[in-house]
Amino acid sequence: MSANLSSKVTVPEVQRLKTAGQKITALTAYDYPFARILDACGIDVLLVGDSLGTVVQGVATTLPVTMDEMVYHLKLVSRARPRALVVGDMPFLSYQAGICDAITNAGRLLKEGSAEAVKLEGGVNVARVIKAIVNVDIPVMGHIGLTPQSVHRMGGFKVQGKKAGRQPGARERLLEDAQAVAEAGAFAVVLEGVPMDLAHEITDRLPIPTIGIGAGPYCDGQILVMHDLLGLSDRFAPKFVKRYADLQEIVSQAVNAYINEVRSGVFPQDEHSFH
Ligand code: KIV
Repeated sequence: MSANLSSKVTVPEVQRLKTAGQKITALTAYDYPFARILDACGIDVLLVGDSLGTVVQGVATTLPVTMDEMVYHLKLVSRARPRALVVGDMPFLSYQAGICDAITNAGRLLKEGSAEAVKLEGGVNVARVIKAIVNVDIPVMGHIGLTPQSVHRMGGFKVQGKKAGRQPGARERLLEDAQAVAEAGAFAVVLEGVPMDLAHEITDRLPIPTIGIGAGPYCDGQILVMHDLLGLSDRFAPKFVKRYADLQEIVSQAVNAYINEVRSGVFPQDEHSFH
């Protein structure tokens, strides 16, 4: 059965796509107009990511992003009533300090932001948290490998799980993280900044879909930050980003034309005016 472009994408549907061998497509979104456009194209998953901090708010890392900000942007995206599954990212310190906090905050993303699932970073260290959130029937997407909320521990945004010698024990730890996230009940897991052979092995081993970003072609699906794909970002573009458009250039051309026409009196004309 191929993907049905008219019916709502649900958590079981995302899992079915893995079983059916069909690639899962995912992008980040942060507001109503882009959620509407991406959804009309038939994307499967819209993630309101905490990358919000770096691509929308202009801060250097995802760490300052708050629960209130995540709820606000989820509301904007959900108002597009997307066919895509809407996943809300749990920001830094919204789930690390205790199970009770984690459940309450995950619940806020559903109750106030209309998310249909939440995503959180970590492996073995957060398995207990994932289990607790899943136990109250909130679907969880895991996120392992290069986890941006751990930027200071990692010493930068670095590929994780490289071959022995370069990062001793890192491959084994990532395999354990993947297993722990799946066993805790996550319905899917993002693999970020992971060597492609390791991502391949994890994808083959796990019963749940893997969604790669900088993890090569063998994952069950792919995700990119929308601003990177559209050329709207001024941040450093990692090797794994493919820029499909240069919206910065297109927007600049339009705005320059507007400025010139206003200054020279070409805009507005009669047709733009009321009589
Ligand atoms: O916050 C985000 O956008 C993410 C994706 C890059 C997976 O976590």
